[in-house]
Amino acid sequence: MNDLTDLISARSNELFYYSPYNFIHDFSKEIQFKNCVENVIINFENENNNNVYKITCDGQLHQFYVTKLSWDTQYFGINTIKLKYVLYAHQNFGMLQNAVREFLNIISSEKKYCFIEIPSEDILLLKAITSNSFNLIETRLTYFRRNLSAFNNERYAVRKANLSDTENLKRVARVMRNDFDRFHADPVFSKEIADEFLATYIEQSIKGFADVVLVPDETGIPADSFLTANYLKDDWTKNKINISKMVLSAVSAQTNKGWYKKLVSEMTYHLYNEGAEYIYMNTQSTNRAVIYTWEKLGYKLGCTTHILSYNNL
Ligand SMILES: CC(C)(COP(=O)(O)OP(=O)(O)OC[C@H]1O[C@@H](n2cnc3c(N)ncnc32)[C@H](O)[C@@H]1OP(=O)(O)O)[C@@H](O)C(=O)NCCC(=O)NCCS
Repeated sequence: MNDLTDLISARSNELFYYSPYNFIHDFSKEIQFKNCVENVIINFENENNNNVYKITCDGQLHQFYVTKLSWDTQYFGINTIKLKYVLYAHQNFGMLQNAVREFLNIISSEKKYCFIEIPSEDILLLKAITSNSFNLIETRLTYFRRNLSAFNNERYAVRKANLSDTENLKRVARVMRNDFDRFHADPVFSKEIADEFLATYIEQSIKGFADVVLVPDETGIPADSFLTANYLKDDWTKNKINISKMVLSAVSAQTNKGWYKKLVSEMTYHLYNEGAEYIYMNTQSTNRAVIYTWEKLGYKLGCTTHILSYNNL
């Protein structure tokens, strides 16, 4: 049973949860699995920087799908790979544990730092990974909102960020540290490097990496907070559903306290006006202010994943 379609079908129940939209019931399960999981795996090796490690343990083939993150590798000076999927066609914990161990031996010899995001539902793989020196770094919650036409919150004065906001927003991103995001929680990165990474991220977002960055625009209030979003319009026709994503945010506790709710509210209107039917976003299970705010604005829990990393550099 080594054919790729057989390997995918043996894991289809768990693999479905690797679709970033698995909690959206209006998104046909069949189209979603095909577009967001199956075709991604089938076409995986056609993409630059992708590699599949094929490991046979006790006569069973295991395939580890890995992407080399060139940007991260250069920025952090750490040879970084992301393990995207693991395929196998059995339910034997010991066998899977051995295959993961062998995979780690290979990437250790290649001096690579590896991380993976695993849905809570993929329990056998989680067990095999955690019994093999992967460390839990972050527990990530995804929230979403639908029925955007019914969104009816009071309005706040915001504007799009421009290049002249860059240095100030980089400062806010650096200062408003979230100790539990992947970069701050993983000891492979120093706190200062993680701060600087987020400053770089907002800089790139303003330069076009994000489709929109909103900041406060209220008289007497400095624009010391931001929220970025991506429309994801390239996927709308293919998926037959319009889903957009809010991405990065920080709010100065000194000068903009309480602005997070206002930015999320205004971004909800903005994305709806751009044509979104659904909006989703991620945070850590620790980020109570964020979860409280989203729930207040009608966002609901979609799914939970775990980020784990392996570092034997
Ligand atoms: C998270 C963050 C954006 C919130 O900024 P803010 O708008 O000033 O948030 P507030 O402190 O006003 O809290 C928002 C709401 O959550 C509530 N809240 C705060 N901490 C809470 C907790 N521990 N439990 C429950 N509710 C909490 C507040 O009472 C407030 O509710 P209210 O509007 O009814 O008064 C800001 O702290 C920040 O930039 N953190 C670092 C970066 C980060 O975590 N970004 C978000 C990544 S997803």
